[in-house]
Amino acid sequence: MSSTLVADSIRKADSQEGQTSLELDAVELSLVLPTYNEAENIPLVVDLVGQALAGVNWEIIVVDDNSPDGTSQVARHIAQENPRVRVIRRIGRRGLSGACIEGMLSSSAKYVAVMDADLQHDESLLPRMLAAMRSGHYDIAVASRHVEGGDVGDGLSKIRSWGSDLANNLARNLLKVTLSDPMSGFFMVSREKVDALAPQLSSQGFKILLDLVASAKGSMRIKELPFVFRERQHGESKLDTLVTLDYLGLLVAKLFNDMISVRFLMYSAVGATGVVVHLIVLKLLLASGGFVFNQAQLMATVVAMTSNFILNNRLTYRDRRLKGFAWLKGLLTFYCICSVGVLANVGVASFIYDASPIWWFAGAAGAVMGAVWNFVASNALTWRRA
Ligand code: GDD
Ligand code: MN
Repeated sequence: MSSTLVADSIRKADSQEGQTSLELDAVELSLVLPTYNEAENIPLVVDLVGQALAGVNWEIIVVDDNSPDGTSQVARHIAQENPRVRVIRRIGRRGLSGACIEGMLSSSAKYVAVMDADLQHDESLLPRMLAAMRSGHYDIAVASRHVEGGDVGDGLSKIRSWGSDLANNLARNLLKVTLSDPMSGFFMVSREKVDALAPQLSSQGFKILLDLVASAKGSMRIKELPFVFRERQHGESKLDTLVTLDYLGLLVAKLFNDMISVRFLMYSAVGATGVVVHLIVLKLLLASGGFVFNQAQLMATVVAMTSNFILNNRLTYRDRRLKGFAWLKGLLTFYCICSVGVLANVGVASFIYDASPIWWFAGAAGAVMGAVWNFVASNALTWRRA
């Protein structure tokens, strides 16, 4: 082959490469789709998004928590034919906020959006959200069901929409968040903002939008766009009434400027119920007349520890819930940890009481010490991450 021919073919290859690299131009918009059992919906959503975003350089990031219905395999199939689709499969973790955060942080685009993958969110809103972001006047565009023209439609049950109204009012009044629909799971935000706020976000729960806006402390310029919440066609909702607890936890954590974690708050609330359980059982046993005080006290302690374990397993650590043999093992480690907690409690209290005999101060310091120990130890041992 003559050298001119070689040079020619290189030039050709170059220009071909030039073309492909044109197509692979930097992605402008990453759309995060958190999924749990959405195998039937994923192909439909990808199609609809593609139609809605014609002419835009977009990508979809499916963040799947290892759904048993094979959502991630379905998504990977699509990704093999459509390079705009990426998949993150998370194992041993559950949670909407955490999935959204992970998806957003895996993006390098200028803008990131989060949308439900179950067709309840109207994808035809995406171009308008993008236009708002491109205008440079806003840091976040939120699809709202509560501004003029928006509607919850029939997509929410009566009780859910009542709870949702209550939560909205709390957010507005307590956190001074000026969002008409802080519970919305559909928004677009500049990725730079997300990167800046990421360390403050709570991966627990499902209120990622409220978390973002509250953490930004008024620095977000917000655009709200109305939309109508559609009804689910396939599969079912994963958000139960317990998510309201996460929500309240997030409100309190933000009120205290993130000094205390949502989990610790829930753990403490459960601990408080334990004290009540303890006293009731103690009273009943003593009233039965069959036990001396020490026996009754010991039994009440075991009942209270067990009830704390069950509640923490169902509420505080819902996302790492122990089942079967792991449940039993967890309960036993929990007993051990709490026993050490009692020693820490009494130790600290008497140490302080010896130094300055103020009974309530020494007592409270001991109790706090015990609670912190219990939390740190059971967080690391009983419900350690898979
Ligand atoms: N990765 C992951 N992990 N995704 C999840 C999880 C999870 O643990 N839980 C839910 N998802 C996904 C679902 O697959 C769906 O794509 C999306 O998150 C929303 O979940 P749904 O279960 O459909 O929620 P919903 O319709 O009841 O609630 C919607 O409306 C609320 C307003 O009342 C969501 O948009 C909420 O964010 C919103 O607050
Ligand atoms: Mn839904």
